[in-house]
Amino acid sequence: MTGQAERGVTVRLTSDHAGVDAAARLLRDGHLVAFPTETVYGLGADATNPDAVRAIYAAKGRPSFNPLIVHVADMDMARDIAVFDPQSEAMAEVHWPAPLTLVLPLKADLPPEVTAGLQTVAVRMPALPLARDLIQRVGRPLAAPSANPSGRVSPTSPEHVLAGLNGRISAILDGGATTLGLESTIVGFADGAPVLLREGAVPAEALGLEDQKVGQENARPSAPGQLSSHYAPRGRLRLNATRPEPGETMIGFGDVAGDISLSETGDMAEAAARLYAILHEMDAKGAELIAVAPIPDIGVGRAINDRLRRAAAPRTASD
Ligand code: TXA
Ligand code: MG
Repeated sequence: MTGQAERGVTVRLTSDHAGVDAAARLLRDGHLVAFPTETVYGLGADATNPDAVRAIYAAKGRPSFNPLIVHVADMDMARDIAVFDPQSEAMAEVHWPAPLTLVLPLKADLPPEVTAGLQTVAVRMPALPLARDLIQRVGRPLAAPSANPSGRVSPTSPEHVLAGLNGRISAILDGGATTLGLESTIVGFADGAPVLLREGAVPAEALGLEDQKVGQENARPSAPGQLSSHYAPRGRLRLNATRPEPGETMIGFGDVAGDISLSETGDMAEAAARLYAILHEMDAKGAELIAVAPIPDIGVGRAINDRLRRAAAPRTASD
């Protein structure tokens, strides 16, 4: 059964034993349940159930060519769906569980909707114990994109999820605000060598990939998260601003003051954790012109700048 009503009631579940059990039951029955990870909230479905996976695309309005990340609780589950070689095995061994997604050759017979027909699958073992506990109790891998309408800002709180998807999903497992605030780093492999496909919560430096630029010629297969209008608030962004122009709402960082600040102390982790909440707030107050202070392009600042550039990019048809 799939049971995604066109417009139903979204139940808010607590993150205790009973809540996780209820979420797991709904997922096993083919329902959509948003759940927290250490990065952003995911919109989860049983990755082995084609109807449930299709319902993700419908609820998000996501283009069907944009494949999903499959979340696993442990290495056994990962090995069931993907083929590891010594390179990827070592990377998983060192980093997982982590905000790191590995694009690997597909092994299991997953519904083609999960991978958008590709022969590779994006796999991630989340660091948040609550997320792994949920997957464990479902007993199946969970396909989960960020729990936002396609093209909009990713959710870092239950309120963000409900603002975008209330009534379109069966339930949300409430784990409070997420801690890292930016999506996972995505790494693929070309001829055995790691390729940075998306900047994310694990800094490229931690993977030895700081010399790679996402989107460069050799970045194949490309992650369609590179769609330029991804992560966009409704207002227009002007980046690397040191002061606001008339009519602009200013987002500060460090010494550059603003109406609101990503981090007054210039703390990059704090800025990452607050970025999407601040963009959601800009949407909520209807800010049309938004100026953003410069962010150093090192560590997780690389991912912050990547998201800001995409948010500032001209809107595309898939928006
Ligand atoms: O932190 C995260 O990664 C969050 C949480 C929920 O885990 N998820 C997330 O999912 O950001 P989503 O759907 O917003 O982004 C998934 C990205 C997309 O850019 C997609 O194109 C890429 O993963 N992707 C998925 N499968 C792929 C594949 N086989 N090859 C290349 N890219 C792939
Ligand atoms: Mg997303």
